[in-house]
Amino acid sequence: MSEHYPAQYDALNHEHAEIQDELSQLQAAGDETPNVTAFRQRLWDFLQLLQQHHRHEEDIMSETTYPDAALHTAYHRHSAGVIDTIIRLYDADATAELGERIAAHVANAVQEEIFFDRQLMAFLSDR
Ligand SMILES: [Fe+2]
Ligand SMILES: [Fe+2]
Repeated sequence: MSEHYPAQYDALNHEHAEIQDELSQLQAAGDETPNVTAFRQRLWDFLQLLQQHHRHEEDIMSETTYPDAALHTAYHRHSAGVIDTIIRLYDADATAELGERIAAHVANAVQEEIFFDRQLMAFLSDR
C-alpha cells in the first residue's frame, strides 16, 4: 500500500505492511500445489489479521470523531463479510484450482481497503 498514515499513527502503517506481506504469502500458497487444509488456515488467519486492523482504525476514528466513520466502518464489515463468505464457500468445496482465484479476490478486497483509508489518512494528516 503506497499511501501512509501520519507518524503518530505509524502502527497502522505497520499493520498495512503486515497485511500486504500475508497477502503475498496467501497468493504464493494459492499458486502452489495447494495444501487445502493449510490454505484454509491461512485464509482464516488473514481474516483475523484484517479484522484486528479494522478495529484499530475504528478506535482511532472514534477518538478523533472522524466524520465518515460510519461509512468506513460499513466498508470494513462488508470486506470482512466477503472474505468470511469465501472461506465458507471453500469449506463447502475446497479444490486446488479455487485457491488461486480466491487469493486474487482477497487481493481485490485489500485494494478497496486503501481506497477508504486514503480519506482517513488525509483527515488525520490535517489535524
Ligand atoms: Fe487500513
Ligand atoms: Fe480501513
